[in-house]
Amino acid sequence: YDYKLDHKQLTQWYKKNHRDLPWRANKDPYRIWLSEVMLQQTTVVAVIPYFEKFLTKFSTVHKLANAPENEVLEAWAGLGYYSRARNLHKAAKALSAQGFPQTAAELLELPGFGPYTSRAVASIAFGEKVGVLDGNVIRVLSRRFGLKLEWWNNKGREQLQNISDELSKLGQADVVNQGLMELGATVCTPQKVTCILCPWASACVAREKGLIETLPLKKPR
Ligand code: ADE
Repeated sequence: YDYKLDHKQLTQWYKKNHRDLPWRANKDPYRIWLSEVMLQQTTVVAVIPYFEKFLTKFSTVHKLANAPENEVLEAWAGLGYYSRARNLHKAAKALSAQGFPQTAAELLELPGFGPYTSRAVASIAFGEKVGVLDGNVIRVLSRRFGLKLEWWNNKGREQLQNISDELSKLGQADVVNQGLMELGATVCTPQKVTCILCPWASACVAREKGLIETLPLKKPR
């Protein structure tokens, strides 16, 4: 499959329509990493004040690394999932000592860096051409390409990861990845989709076949 047109449509849409969020102001890997960790558990609107407050207290990865753990956990209070804050602190110590690795493969070695976070930071902060896969991206790609995949299994995830990677390789991976996230967060949402605003509307298989409600498949419980 040739993703060139999809890439072009997504990229143009993101450049024109993305929200002006605090972690998009610059390419500081520390800020981008912090935003991705906070956004794993909480919505954009809820994260913004925590993000700003956290950075006021710990403006650099070195300041975070040197802070006592109780102060870090205190700044995290309200976000929940304290293991994330503990891992953040642990990783900050390593990063402060060794510097920020610039590839997803190296980032993956650090505490709290899973495939998603590693790929998000490597692509957004350092421009590495690796695709991300989270709930938003799974939904957007499953619908656009009409894929009835078991995304909760390795095989299904791999197929979606490959598409995400291919799209990223075609241009600016930071724009592609944030474009997919943004599309999933603002247009191609779980309910009340606004296809009229979607750059992929005319090509979208789920839309054409009436599968918007069906895709992505629901994880059996
Ligand atoms: N969700 C996860 N990462 C995000 C980002 N960088 N911007 C907006 N929403 C996100």
